[in-house]
Amino acid sequence: MPFRKHYTGLLDRYRDRLPISEDTKIIDLGEGNTPLIKLKNIPGEMGVDAEIYVKYEGLNPTGSFKDRGMCMAVTKAVEEGSKAIICASTGNTSAAAAAYAARAGITAFVLIPDGKIALGKLAQAMMHGAVVIQIHGNFDDGMQLVKEVGEEAPVTIVNSINPFRLQGQKTAAFEIIEELGAAPDYHCLPVGNAGNISAHWMGYVEYAEDGIVPTRPTMVGYQAAGAAPFMRGEMVDEPETVATAIRIGHPQSWDKAWNVQKESGGWFDECTDEEILAAQKLLAEREGVFCEPASATSVAGALRDLKSGKIPAGSKIVCTLTGHGLKDPDTAIKQSTRELITVDATLEDVKGAILNNM
Ligand code: F0G
Repeated sequence: MPFRKHYTGLLDRYRDRLPISEDTKIIDLGEGNTPLIKLKNIPGEMGVDAEIYVKYEGLNPTGSFKDRGMCMAVTKAVEEGSKAIICASTGNTSAAAAAYAARAGITAFVLIPDGKIALGKLAQAMMHGAVVIQIHGNFDDGMQLVKEVGEEAPVTIVNSINPFRLQGQKTAAFEIIEELGAAPDYHCLPVGNAGNISAHWMGYVEYAEDGIVPTRPTMVGYQAAGAAPFMRGEMVDEPETVATAIRIGHPQSWDKAWNVQKESGGWFDECTDEEILAAQKLLAEREGVFCEPASATSVAGALRDLKSGKIPAGSKIVCTLTGHGLKDPDTAIKQSTRELITVDATLEDVKGAILNNM
């Protein structure tokens, strides 16, 4: 059996479709190439007739889809001679920025909402040596500040307003098409700043326009009910949700995402925190897939729309699971209903614990 070639990340893999040249020095961590997992238990148990796949983006090097865009943005920043990058973040972007900056040997400045990012993400930014600036404000305040700083200081902004970010992130659509041999009928994503849904659409459109596949999916974006500007039809000033990754009220890719909705014939909807957490738990308990709360919004919404018939029976659906469950251990432990059993370290007690729980 021939050995598989060393995988060197998505910039190398999709070189021809990305804004890099032969001379570009690629900054990679082996990102992309994430599993597309078919749900085996949930559809039957929930009584929905559909082929549902989850694209497990939590298995990227820093545990979220942000790595796809960050490798691209940092590669270009370094190519252009930048010595520092900056972003506002609900956590995952800061983790990715910190890691890729470390890899490139440049400085990452990250602005995060004080006390409102999941612990794992904070640990990552700190461990990778980013300069972490907590602000008494939310993501939207941080984003505004980053844009202002970007005008004055010699730092490259690596939020998704940096066009290279979306270029990198579009590769998720390429991977899905290649694995399924076609575009899915529906693609469901959690929506916060709305960069990812826009990037996926770019990828789907590119493969369709190049004649690689004949169709494009209907794009469906789900928001947390307390942070759902696309449902309100206007910006939300005080966004609130347990899914801190998408606690965003002023999405930067507002126009782009509305275009995606129109061009793909899709829609936006919202999920309550209860629905989001229930879906997160369902995926963990019934499929063995651990994603962070924000990610589960895609599955919560898709299941509801399947049950109501808005997504027709028999559809092929891909839900993006944007980040790993280990990012937010606090929320996971808080909502776990499994009791911890503590016994003496004796055979008798351990056997007793097993027999009581068979
Ligand atoms: N899911 C997760 C886990 C996220 O971290 C984000 C965004 C989204 C979904 C929404 O993606 O913004 O492209 O619509 N997180 C950003 C951050 C804002 O700072 O990490 P989007």
